[in-house]
Amino acid sequence: MKKFYLLLLVSTMAVSAYAQNSDWFYATTDSQSAQTLKSEFPEQIQILETKNSVSAVYMTKEVSVKLKENGNLHGPGYIFRKDKNSAIGAINKVNESNMKILDFTIDQDAYVNQVIGQPDATNIGNTIVTLQNYGTRFNTKPTGVQASYDIKSWWQGMADDAGRGDITVEAFNHGFTDQISVILTIPGSEFPDEYVIIGGHLDSGDYWIQNYAPGADDNGSGIATLTEILRVLLANDFHPKRTVQIMGYAAEEIGLYGSADIAESYANANKDVKSVVQFDMTNYNGSAFDIAIIADGAYTSGVLNLYLIDLLEHYNSSGEHQITYDFSYCGYACSDHVSWTENGYMASFPFEAAMGEDNPNIHTTNDTYEAMGSTAVHSVKFAKLGLEYLIETAKVANMGTNDTDAPNLMIAVKDRNLIYDLGNLTPYTNSVVVFDAAGKKLIQKDKLDVKGSVSLQGLPNGFYIAVFKDKDGKAYSKKFLIK
Ligand code: BES
Ligand code: ZN
Repeated sequence: MKKFYLLLLVSTMAVSAYAQNSDWFYATTDSQSAQTLKSEFPEQIQILETKNSVSAVYMTKEVSVKLKENGNLHGPGYIFRKDKNSAIGAINKVNESNMKILDFTIDQDAYVNQVIGQPDATNIGNTIVTLQNYGTRFNTKPTGVQASYDIKSWWQGMADDAGRGDITVEAFNHGFTDQISVILTIPGSEFPDEYVIIGGHLDSGDYWIQNYAPGADDNGSGIATLTEILRVLLANDFHPKRTVQIMGYAAEEIGLYGSADIAESYANANKDVKSVVQFDMTNYNGSAFDIAIIADGAYTSGVLNLYLIDLLEHYNSSGEHQITYDFSYCGYACSDHVSWTENGYMASFPFEAAMGEDNPNIHTTNDTYEAMGSTAVHSVKFAKLGLEYLIETAKVANMGTNDTDAPNLMIAVKDRNLIYDLGNLTPYTNSVVVFDAAGKKLIQKDKLDVKGSVSLQGLPNGFYIAVFKDKDGKAYSKKFLIK
């Protein structure tokens, strides 16, 4: 939780200096801040309604800046609301997300194991550098608008290059800014009306001059993580049963504006969003553990948080993909997951470090790739978690295999036994897992000899996949048929 120096700063300002420009808008903010502003700048803010320590307000742009002037350059602020109804509606909305029962399962081992080693730090680093080179991606700046359109073109180009005419990449236009949000959609084959979403904000910002935050970590790292997740999914011909969307949100830094607009329109259209995971700041390795699961009760879904931990435990408890985690707390509406939570959807926010151990350079000129040691190794862990989450919640419709990767690995089926020869894969530390075509795990055998067999007794006729892992955890899959 960030310290809040509002009173100190506000009391030194002269009211008259802010009375000229009257650019009014609706927002919600904590009631204490609203009260403070009201007493210091009575002409600049109206408090419309207060509930559970949150106030719906109508205020000027000038006075809203005061909510940002605290020692850490971020912290409790306000959330933009597009009109009076949504401001008042927001403080009266029951947080439904924690009431939903999570029916998510973990059974896509074959596909997840195939992709989990593929996210690449160099790719993520290159994207971060490309994004910081815009200078600023503040939503009102030409470079910020350009960056939003460029991200759309990159994602579209990646889908095109993969020959995926089924994937769409769309601009979500906002009334408030020329910057667009970008929405990539991989349509679900079986449940196209059920959505699972990952996203992060594509703008950058600071609260003073608004033109000098390169935003490498905040949130170039999140966009780069999403882009790498997309690359890996495309490389593995991912076709989900549920619809998957990857979103780059506009104008987060001025009050979660882009994501609020999208989440509200989804709620108004009654879209069945199963859950949403936010990637905002993934690359600063500031804590003794890898991933901080932000667990603010009012703003994140407790069950979805636990599901993410289940995924980490299931896939990363040992070996090459080990990822450690702990809970942490923003203590305020700190990022776009809040927009989804407020519209009744389940959302979580896996974050780069414990609060207070996160990147101290955000919202300044120093938020650069170089300041993070010119490596994106930390973000790779978030790409892995993102892949696990999308694959397990959307479920694969087609089990891809990478037969060609292990040319010396031979299998055959004889008398309902799987006969194998590991070839050049190192013996004794290998394992094999047999899955059915839906990705359900059926048999596991560890500590394999170079040549051997696995009993397939009791399995019905049909297609199966055997996933062999070498001692480094790298997976090789082979299809086979029992007939
Ligand atoms: N990435 C930050 C949020 C953040 C910063 C979370 C540090 C945890 C630690 C985000 O872009 C941001 O700046 N959020 C604003 C609030 C928002 C409502 C404008 C903030 O934290 O001040
Ligand atoms: Zn920020």
